[in-house]
Amino acid sequence: MILEVDALRSGYGRIPILAGVTLSVAEGEFLGVLGHNGMGKTTLMNTLMGHLPATGGTVRFKGQDVTQQPAHTRALAGLGLVPQGRQIFPDLTVQENLRMGMAGSKTEDLELLDDILGLFPRLQRLLDRRGGALSGGEQQLLALARCLCAQPKLMLLDEPTEGIQPSILEEIVDTLKALRERGLSLVLVEQNLEFIAALSGRVLIIQKGMITGELSPQELKNPETVAEFVGMTTA
Ligand SMILES: Nc1ncnc2c1ncn2[C@@H]1O[C@H](COP(=O)(O)OP(=O)(O)O)[C@@H](O)[C@H]1O
Ligand SMILES: [Mg+2]
Repeated sequence: MILEVDALRSGYGRIPILAGVTLSVAEGEFLGVLGHNGMGKTTLMNTLMGHLPATGGTVRFKGQDVTQQPAHTRALAGLGLVPQGRQIFPDLTVQENLRMGMAGSKTEDLELLDDILGLFPRLQRLLDRRGGALSGGEQQLLALARCLCAQPKLMLLDEPTEGIQPSILEEIVDTLKALRERGLSLVLVEQNLEFIAALSGRVLIIQKGMITGELSPQELKNPETVAEFVGMTTA
């Protein structure tokens, strides 16, 4: 297992949000976590990355207990987060955004940049464009590419489909599949069932800060089972 999360709790001030999340991700696995707005998906991602302190439970990454480690230490160990809303630098060019992604990594090399851009043909044509001038989908591709610049082993991907046109979603699916071929592990949190089903083997359901169910690949193909589980997650 590359990631083992046990009874993880966190929240904001005195407000508890994650109420004991337990999950694990195998090496090379793409795990989906499906849940509606406000169910704790972003809180989970930020706690896994170390941006938000855990108030209970443990996070083990590559066999090491990282629960008390700061985000930059986790990043150096190979954990990467693509945050909700992309959070690229709007006033920097695409190329400069990618350089910023490399700043935290051990090496800054042009071969790596070329290698990553090989996965993002659309970005190759936009290298001198300001981040803020890109479409939502292009910004999402940039956020993915920027995360890859730090050479993560496990990527945490927070609602990549939010506000993105369907045409570019397919491109994002294909890019993520190519990354799976290269051995990347992924935790994908989403409200978009179709997108999550296109990529994930197992899909967990998150509801009010707890994992309340799991859909197998077989169940994901059965519309009735899915409707039942997804119905459960409405507030
Ligand atoms: N910075 C914050 N301070 C206080 N409460 C927050 C904060 N961020 C999120 N919350 C609350 O935590 C809960 C889970 O939010 P979030 O993790 O963003 O859910 P999701 O990503 O699934 O939409 C919500 O009730 C939300 O209002
Ligand atoms: Mg969110």
